[in-house]
Amino acid sequence: MEQEVFGADGAQINRATPLVASDVADGPIPVHVACVMDGNGRWASRRGLPRTEGHAAGETALLDAVEGALDLGIPWITMYAFSTENWRRPADEVRYLMGFNESLLVRRRDELNDKGVRIRFAGRRDWRVPKRVLKRMDESVELTARNRRSTLTMAFNYGGRAEIVDAVRSLVADGVPAAKVDEKAIRSRLYYPDQPDPDLMIRTSGEHRISNFLLWQLAYSELVFTGVLWPDFRRHHLFEAIQEFQRRQRRYGGVT
Ligand code: IPE
Ligand code: IPE
Ligand code: MG
Repeated sequence: MEQEVFGADGAQINRATPLVASDVADGPIPVHVACVMDGNGRWASRRGLPRTEGHAAGETALLDAVEGALDLGIPWITMYAFSTENWRRPADEVRYLMGFNESLLVRRRDELNDKGVRIRFAGRRDWRVPKRVLKRMDESVELTARNRRSTLTMAFNYGGRAEIVDAVRSLVADGVPAAKVDEKAIRSRLYYPDQPDPDLMIRTSGEHRISNFLLWQLAYSELVFTGVLWPDFRRHHLFEAIQEFQRRQRRYGGVT
C-alpha cells in the first residue's frame, strides 16, 4: 500500500512501505542521536485543539522513537524536552509541561527500565522546576542507573549556553588557572562528560535552527531537518534520518 511519508528535507514523498530497522542496519549507525522534539503546538492547532494536546500526543512519538533507536542498538539518545527559554511561554502551558513531564516519567519509567534504558537529565535544577518534578526525575535516574543498553538523556530546563556558563563557573570555582582552560577542561565540566557528541541531530517541524540545544556538542554533528511535526514522528522517520546520515560525508575540517 502506498503510504504518505515525509523525507528528511520535509518534502512529501511516497514510499511503498515505511522504512524498517533492517533497511539501515547495514550502514553506519550513529552512536548518539539527539532530537529537538518540535511542532507539538502546531500539530494541535491544526486540529483545533489546545497546544497542550500536542504535548500529550508527543508521548507516543517519544516512546516510538526510543524503541526504534533501541532496535538499532543506539547507545546514546538525547531528547530536548524543555529549554531554558521555554519559561517564556504562557504560565498555563509551562505548568502543563511540568506536570506532563512528571506524569510521563511515572507512566513510562518502568517500561523503559524493563527495556534496559538508563534515564538521565541534562539541565539546570533551578527553583522554577517544581520539587515534585525533581523528585520524580531523581527516582527515575535511581531506578534505571544500572541499565546500559542505552542512555536516554532528557534535556529539561536545558540551555546550551547555560551549560557552557556552568562549565566555566565550575572551572573558576575550582581555581583552574587561565592557561589550563582548554577544550578538554571545558568538556570535562559539561553536564555529562562521559557522553560522546551526537553524530546525528534531528529537528522536527520544519524549523531550521538549534534553539540553544547542545551548542558545544553539536560542533560536528550531522543535522537533519524534517517537516514532520513531533506528535507524528515515528521510528520510520528516525530510520529515514539515519538513511540521510548515511549519505553524508563527515570531514571534521579535514580532507578525504
Ligand atoms: C515542542 O513543541 C515542545 C516544547 C518546546 C516543549 P512546541 O510547543 O514548540 O510546538 P510549536 O513549535 O509551537 O508547534
Ligand atoms: C526547542 O523548541 C525546545 C524544545 C523542543 C524543547 P522551541 O519551539 O522552544 O524553539 P523555538 O522557539 O522555535 O526556537
Ligand atoms: Mg516549537
